Amino acid sequence: MRGTVSSRRSSGGWHDRQATGPEQSTAPRIDPHFPFMNTRHQHETLAPAAWINAAWDRSAAKLRRTSRRIGDTFPHVSKNGRYDAAPVHWWTAGFWPGLLWLVYRETHDDALRALAESCERQLDRTIVEFDDLYHDVGFMWSLTAVARYKLLGADDSRRRSLLAASLLASRFNLRGRFLRAWNEDRVGWAIIDSLMNLPILYWASERLGDPRFKYIAMAHADTALRHFVRDDGSCRHIVSFDPVTGDFIEALGGQGESPDSAWSRGSAWALYGFTLSYKYTGEVRYLEAASRVAHFFVSHLPADLVPYWDFRAPVTAETPRDSSAGACAASGLLELASLAPTPDAALFQNAAVALLRALDTQCGAWDADEEGLLRMGTGHVPEGQNINVSLIYGDYFFVEALAKLRGQRELFW
Ligand code: GLY
Repeated sequence: MRGTVSSRRSSGGWHDRQATGPEQSTAPRIDPHFPFMNTRHQHETLAPAAWINAAWDRSAAKLRRTSRRIGDTFPHVSKNGRYDAAPVHWWTAGFWPGLLWLVYRETHDDALRALAESCERQLDRTIVEFDDLYHDVGFMWSLTAVARYKLLGADDSRRRSLLAASLLASRFNLRGRFLRAWNEDRVGWAIIDSLMNLPILYWASERLGDPRFKYIAMAHADTALRHFVRDDGSCRHIVSFDPVTGDFIEALGGQGESPDSAWSRGSAWALYGFTLSYKYTGEVRYLEAASRVAHFFVSHLPADLVPYWDFRAPVTAETPRDSSAGACAASGLLELASLAPTPDAALFQNAAVALLRALDTQCGAWDADEEGLLRMGTGHVPEGQNINVSLIYGDYFFVEALAKLRGQRELFW
């Protein structure tokens, strides 16, 4: 038995080609197909490379500029250069204020703070109206109320965050041990995305000194581990359970190509989400899951490193990319690198940096007339929606990852 968390995968990419040698050495593994794996784990010792600061400066300048038009609305998709304004209850409502907080944290620009605070107050309405709220309250309030509480210690934000955590906890199905996705007739559905909703539950338990929220989060993470993550590190998007007995019924393709495929943003949610579950709980099974997904993600990147929308979709010249999957995975990989043992830590760190560099150079919309930061995002291929556009969550994770590379280690999650 080899000694790292990555040793337990059964099949797949570059790591299996590494598995024939003697006992695991601490030297970084090298693969000619992934040159970013050849360098050492450097992130804690070196100042950020010039391109990282340049990408941050470009992003921050653009966000300050676009904030004058976008204001305290809720951008989701940018087509033809302008972000739309999505309804306040849409799952993406936290990402724009989250971006504003990322820049505020370094600039203390009160105009940005005021916009983020206005967005947070507008979210109150969604709680009172209730019908359109679903599982994504973690996405919505982690990057608004939890962020403001962490940055400013504001008591109204603490209360909002705890209320959001309570709403999320109320979606727990005790028999199936999952957080229910969506509303209406999808009573027994759970989705991989919700791994990124768990941090607000862990945070609530820490704040209150009460483990109930954490136990719900861990139960959901364990169900995801059992039913969503395959042995090779790929992930399902949706699983349907019998809501009365809790029994597994079937896997559904959801935003991926098929039930057996590997939707790349779903992989990114799992990579980052399991990493955060490990960070909050210290349970090694979550670190192992995050690492397995990370190896799958990294070893399935194309040569130019911009992920396809589904790692198992047939590749033609028209196959859509998804820069948002790349940005989310990059930020997750940086987090995982800070927690994983060597040599995986080096591999994840270097993969994250290479991925961000590729997004910056190949997807960066550094044209002053265009509001998005990253082009080539893909929302929902099976429904034909939002393909090859800028997506606010892609922009968020790109800037979050750059902030990490500049030394910011505190998370809003
Ligand atoms: N959570 C929905 C998506 O990733 O598109």
